Amino acid sequence: GAAELGPYRHYMQKEIFEQPRAIADTLDGIQAVVPELFEASGNHAPGEGAHRVFKEVDSVLILACGTSYYAGCTAKYWLEGIARIPTQVEIASEYRYRDSVPNPNTLVVTITQSGETADTLAALRHAQSLGMRHTLTICNVSTSAMVRETTLAYLTRAGVEIGVASTKALTTQLAGLFLLTLALAQAKGRLTESQEAAHLKAMRHLPAALSAVLALEPQIISWAEDFANKQNALFLGRGLHYPIALEGALKLKEITYIHAEAYAAGELKHGPLALVTSEMPVVTVAPNDALLEKLKSNMQEVRARGGVLYVLADADSRIESQEGIHVIRMPEHYGPLSPLLHVVPLQLLAYHTAVARGTDVDKPRNLAKSVTVE
Ligand code: G6P
Repeated sequence: GAAELGPYRHYMQKEIFEQPRAIADTLDGIQAVVPELFEASGNHAPGEGAHRVFKEVDSVLILACGTSYYAGCTAKYWLEGIARIPTQVEIASEYRYRDSVPNPNTLVVTITQSGETADTLAALRHAQSLGMRHTLTICNVSTSAMVRETTLAYLTRAGVEIGVASTKALTTQLAGLFLLTLALAQAKGRLTESQEAAHLKAMRHLPAALSAVLALEPQIISWAEDFANKQNALFLGRGLHYPIALEGALKLKEITYIHAEAYAAGELKHGPLALVTSEMPVVTVAPNDALLEKLKSNMQEVRARGGVLYVLADADSRIESQEGIHVIRMPEHYGPLSPLLHVVPLQLLAYHTAVARGTDVDKPRNLAKSVTVE
């Protein structure tokens, strides 16, 4: 009811603004990476705890749907880049029905807000039936089927999410996946104490960093006014922020019904560039990382075709607003955790565009919060 919403117009907006609190609750002041963080279900057999499993596994297979799948796609960059562990991410409904090559030493990770998504649960059972017994879930509901059926579990503490379009569940999943990356890196001897300390410090600062990003809302509202009368939008990202671009496009589709697509920016020239006209807004996620210079030349390709750019730049990206280029500067550069911050303006963009178009933000047509039947 209205009382619960407080100053917010919709649950989605409230949930976007709850993210600093959701991350703080999930991380609970974390001071050390310990395998026991992943034993929340208490399901593991004696001697088969997370410490043992993390030492034993040689790869990771992530299974999920929807926004949770994009959390997994982001985690692949962390798991391979930081923990140096080969990682596969699959859409649960694809994995469950294809012939795959099972590896008994794989850690099967399901990511699910509800813990009840039919395809994700079936994909887990399929993996188990193929002999994969090391299973872990990152889940927001402690009493869910997924938590009952996996041996290891990390519980996110986003709190109840009511808006059909997932927001705070995603950022808390990302926090859990980053911790999983650190735990695996530690088990494999790939994390020094000083690296661990630096990552944990950055994690503890996330609530404050998220609050600073949320303060960009007025600037996002002015972007949303431009988007409200568009029919299409393109989202570009590279590396760690490619899945964030995918999530930005998904959010826009789900609640505004504007057709949106996301591309890895390097793929622009292999197709989507043909769609770029002055009627095509192009959202670019542009953190100041190793790929920024390449991304800037992708942006030139868009400008040369008259496309209008909406750029989420970093504090220190050296990209200026000019004719056809609208820049919102993120408050701080955030290294490997940057996806958790860059996704927030994209959530707000979808939200305010939907409000401007007058769609049913919390209950978009044809969609359900939790898809428990196939
Ligand atoms: C539905 C929801 C999405 C969610 C997906 C997976 O499609 O509308 O927001 O990402 O299910 O849900 P899960 O509970 O498994 O994360």
